[in-house]
Amino acid sequence: MTMLDVAADVIQTPAQTSAPLDVAKVRAEFPILKETVYGRPLVYLDSAASAQKPRTVIEAVSRAYETSYSNVHRGAHRLSQLATDAFEDARETVARFVNAESADEIVFTRNATEALNLVAASYGRTFLTRGDEIVLTEMEHHANIVPWQLLRDEIGVVLRVVPIDDDGVLRLEALADLIGPRTRLVAITHCSNVLGTVTPLKEIVALAHGHGVPVVVDGSQGIVHAGVDVRDLDVDFYAFTGHKLYGPSGIGVLYGKRAWLERMPPYQGGGEMIDHVSFAETTFKAPPHRFEAGTPPIVQAIGLAAAVRYVSALGMEAIRAHEQALLAQATEALAGMGDVRIFGRAPGKAAIISFLVGSLHPYDVAAVLDRAGIAVRVGQHCAEPLMGRLGVDGTVRASFALYNDGTDVEALVEGIHKAKRMLGG
Ligand code: ALA
Repeated sequence: MTMLDVAADVIQTPAQTSAPLDVAKVRAEFPILKETVYGRPLVYLDSAASAQKPRTVIEAVSRAYETSYSNVHRGAHRLSQLATDAFEDARETVARFVNAESADEIVFTRNATEALNLVAASYGRTFLTRGDEIVLTEMEHHANIVPWQLLRDEIGVVLRVVPIDDDGVLRLEALADLIGPRTRLVAITHCSNVLGTVTPLKEIVALAHGHGVPVVVDGSQGIVHAGVDVRDLDVDFYAFTGHKLYGPSGIGVLYGKRAWLERMPPYQGGGEMIDHVSFAETTFKAPPHRFEAGTPPIVQAIGLAAAVRYVSALGMEAIRAHEQALLAQATEALAGMGDVRIFGRAPGKAAIISFLVGSLHPYDVAAVLDRAGIAVRVGQHCAEPLMGRLGVDGTVRASFALYNDGTDVEALVEGIHKAKRMLGG
């Protein structure tokens, strides 16, 4: 393949399709699923932590390195031009995927955490002052708690926390009550990484905007399981990460409405985010480049674009339907065991199941599953306050993705039975 072929490949976007997922075909596109663990076939149920990569992403990354790699926005030479085109085309691809009005509303970051920190640092320091309030929820990941606490410690903002009910449903009436005259921001997850709860963003945004309050969304899980249309939802900021969306690690995205980004100062300084620099004064580029100091994650962005094209070609609705079928199968099987306690029963939840088995320690259960070749996550899932709300130290979490099938669910159930036999639960 030549450099020009690479450029052409990067700008091609496959048509949307709503055909049901052919999971056998999908599985064949993920090389790692052929691996064995301790001599057992790999059963990967930890995609909410990080998803595996299809061959098209792996090849896009290696092709970029092999044929058209250079730094971007800097060189006068051909390779730099190709790399810059591919990088900026990745921005266009992501913009189309989330339905942003313009690619200028897409800031590339290292991950979702960095995207949320960008909003906290830049929007927060500019528009918030002592006594202003930020509304969060009980089911936030640490990435959507700690940046706001740092801001609280720095400038004295107040954090208000919306409770959930025992099924893991957000208490919307409490959210409405918590939005008051000092509220300056609602920071909320699109989908809980522990409970699978999908929040009613449209209603939340309408509620917040009714008070003139912008909304920032942690979309790390939501974009994977529910997809996103930022214009339809009318969110002000939407943060997500590439590695959970079948793309590379080291690349994240902050979508921000142009009207906000244009009013926000940079929060990191360095090369390429400036117009002019003197020792007396520096002027900055327009968004999104103002927020991308230093050499960006070039090939990671190209890989993310390949991942976006991949899931778009399969169809987000087909992916969701497939995951929902797995969720129903797994929920029924686990609930049928009698002594498995599932955390998160919100209607319309995403394919994430957190659970405990009788009185067995979650780490012991996860260790038995691991020896059976089954990868799950265990612990607090970067959501310690939520663990407190649930009254547990941690859970086992199985998360499903487009490449999982019914045999993975059966393996999980068999693994739990084995854990009970071995551990006496
Ligand atoms: N936030 C990731 C998870 O839920 C790491 O596992």
